[in-house]
Amino acid sequence: MRNLLLLFVCTCTLYLHGQNAAPVIDYYPPTLVPDRIITTWKTDPATSFAVTWRTSISIPKGIGQIALANAGPDLDSIKASEAKTELLVTDLNVAHFHSVNFTGLKPATLYAYRVGDGTVWSEWVHFRTAAAKEAPFSFIYFGDAQNDLKSKWSRAIRQAYSHMPQADFMLHAGDLINVAQRDHEWGEWFYAGGWIYQNMPSILTPGNHEYPRSGGSVVLTKHWRPSFTLPENGPAGLEESAYYTDYQGTRVISINSTAYLYFDQDSVSQMQWLNNVLKNNPNKWTVVTMHHPVYSPAGDRDSPSLRNGLKTLFDKYNVDVILQGHDHTYARGGNKPSTWRNSD
Ligand SMILES: [Fe+2]
Repeated sequence: MRNLLLLFVCTCTLYLHGQNAAPVIDYYPPTLVPDRIITTWKTDPATSFAVTWRTSISIPKGIGQIALANAGPDLDSIKASEAKTELLVTDLNVAHFHSVNFTGLKPATLYAYRVGDGTVWSEWVHFRTAAAKEAPFSFIYFGDAQNDLKSKWSRAIRQAYSHMPQADFMLHAGDLINVAQRDHEWGEWFYAGGWIYQNMPSILTPGNHEYPRSGGSVVLTKHWRPSFTLPENGPAGLEESAYYTDYQGTRVISINSTAYLYFDQDSVSQMQWLNNVLKNNPNKWTVVTMHHPVYSPAGDRDSPSLRNGLKTLFDKYNVDVILQGHDHTYARGGNKPSTWRNSD
């Protein structure tokens, strides 16, 4: 873990900054050209990676192509994968989201990929697979992007990338946007990160702002699963939001803390699942990301159920690092007892 460099970037803007009225003009409409292209992992990072992108519904299907990257302009032995295509109806438009999971790849190898429909393509993008065994790595850790996504989140992610262009992945600790069902905000989130998302993969966990309230119910935004292709190794019903990925000797676990806090059944299922994931962990290091902090450093916020539940497992299995968001603050400290409260 000595080589694991954490660059904590949190856009500490006021919550109210993001409360602008929803635009009635679709400034980020889907087109024939692939956009919102983002790399993630669905399966083993040493032998696979996933790419997700968006088009207009005029593009009925998607294709991913991949080849070993070489020094020349020509790529040899290009392989194609047919994409899974999902329809997403948003407040501003109707779009197709396509995803491919490139598998059977060589570890620690530089590939080139592109996505499209066979006629209209993205550019070719380089992507390096992970080593098959324990090895040092670095990643960029982001707190809540959430507000002023185009105008200010762009500063954070672009400066972070400029500082660490060789980082192995980005980790987003929830609240990527403010109003989850507004496609405009997702348009700004993707605009700000631009092509960085294409060649530096992301690990993402949802926050409470990914859980819109509508009609008396609270559910994960319908943007989440079409936009990101993530592991489905979590509890039933929490696929792609509670999951784990093993990266070069480190198990990175995403816990859906919003579901944990909101719904009793998701608290119970995640406790059972997490116990197994930590108990049967062959990796040297364990990193957890979850949106809500175990110990809140902000005002009178407090989530004792996280300490009474999840923290008992973090302690039992010696989880090394917990990366959280939500409070728009910076904090670090020792491992306090579960009885700790803000007033202490
Ligand atoms: Fe939050």
